[in-house]
Amino acid sequence: MVLNNKQEDVTFVIMGGSGDLTKRKIIPAIYNLIKEKKINKFTLILTGHTLFKSNQILSKAKKFIKSKKINKSVWTKLENNSTYHQIDFNNQGDFIKLERAISRQEEKLKLKGNRLFYLATYSQYYKIIAKYLKNAGSIRHKKKSKKTKSKEPWSRIALEKPFGEDYSTAKAINKALKKSFTEQNIYRVDHYLEKELVSNIALLRFTNIILEPLWNYNHVDHVQVIIDEDIDIQGRAAFYDSQGAIKDVIQNHALQLLALTCMDAPKSLKGNEIRNKKSNFLGSLEIDESFFAQYQGYKKEAKNNNSSTDTFAVIKLKSKSRRWKNTPLYVRSGKALKNKKTRINIIFKRVKCLLDTCPREPNHLSINIHPKNEVHFHLNSKIPNSHDQVTPVKLTFKEDLHFGINTIESYQTILTDMIEGDQSHFVNSDEIEHSWKLIDKIQKTKKKQKLHIYKKKATEPKDLKQWSKQNKVDWIL
Ligand code: BG6
Repeated sequence: MVLNNKQEDVTFVIMGGSGDLTKRKIIPAIYNLIKEKKINKFTLILTGHTLFKSNQILSKAKKFIKSKKINKSVWTKLENNSTYHQIDFNNQGDFIKLERAISRQEEKLKLKGNRLFYLATYSQYYKIIAKYLKNAGSIRHKKKSKKTKSKEPWSRIALEKPFGEDYSTAKAINKALKKSFTEQNIYRVDHYLEKELVSNIALLRFTNIILEPLWNYNHVDHVQVIIDEDIDIQGRAAFYDSQGAIKDVIQNHALQLLALTCMDAPKSLKGNEIRNKKSNFLGSLEIDESFFAQYQGYKKEAKNNNSSTDTFAVIKLKSKSRRWKNTPLYVRSGKALKNKKTRINIIFKRVKCLLDTCPREPNHLSINIHPKNEVHFHLNSKIPNSHDQVTPVKLTFKEDLHFGINTIESYQTILTDMIEGDQSHFVNSDEIEHSWKLIDKIQKTKKKQKLHIYKKKATEPKDLKQWSKQNKVDWIL
């Protein structure tokens, strides 16, 4: 996605400006936007509890910029247009001072006042930040009048996961945000939605006549959404121990992939249409079976001998929708496994045996998001020189080979969409609430179930074999 040629002015205000996300992702993305001339007039206001100079943070972010050489003039522009503002998120008075600092910068740099408040901070601060920003007069909304529509500056808020801890906290955050911002100005980030092949799912499904008519309970045996990771918790114990795979990855990334794979056709890929279709699907889900496991050594890493946190989980879901009528829909995610694999497999039903030879394997379509952007279609074909023996063969679409271009970093497109006001790759309040309702039920189920143990670097927990056999699921990894 590219910014249109208007080059809007932007005031970036980053809450949690000294944090990891800001250094690793947000600053490198802003650098790239300047370099590619997608933004011209801007200011970057970093805010946080601890006192810093903006240059200290920028220099730490430098190593995360993925380009061979840093462009000097771009870097100088970034430095000159950035400031740091110390703030206590619990202090209303500090937000009044912040408002003065923002206005000063906007005046100095002659900016229109289009403001993007990026909350790269703990979600416990979301409600109070939204409230104090409003009280300090920092939020401007476009007036609805047609005449002034394009000239009025906008104020948007961006929030990172975790968006709440459960259904009731997520609902409370939504309610609080809506007192300060309209839903059209709230951007709930799920970086998976900006991955190139993820944003291709709806197009693949709805622009190919050989797919959409088969995409339902009549022809699909089951669906697998797999987000296996090779990394362990990498020192994030304080955060991860309260999350587990269920909250850390399944509540957001995995359910979003499933929703894109299973939703009904939206009329448009823009605006709210696609979000409403995903939301309807998420609201139709019920839990069927589940499997939870923890890797050996996790308790020590988490410094919690009693931890029952799942570092691996599989949930078998069913949708009440007309399209799916109880077709098994699996989501699976785990840490410290042998390989990092992100993929969606659509396993079709076996063809009726019409000839004297019958295929061993059903057809399946795999949408691979990691390690490579690829789509594989598995069909059956004759073994050469045999009379009637069939074997599965693979048709492959490799995105990099076909298009010969590198895809843009997720956070660059995330910022671009926010500046352009395109919400289609962000999660709306209903989607969040439906997914948390489901997660609350999963957490309850978990309490009654065994937590299996697996070895680090295993392809999957050993005990999953039996479970998969019982559920008739053959994982395609
Ligand atoms: C994050 C999780 O949201 O997604 C991490 O908090 C996880 O635990 C990461 O590793 C996976 O994202 P990606 O893009 O590397 O697949």
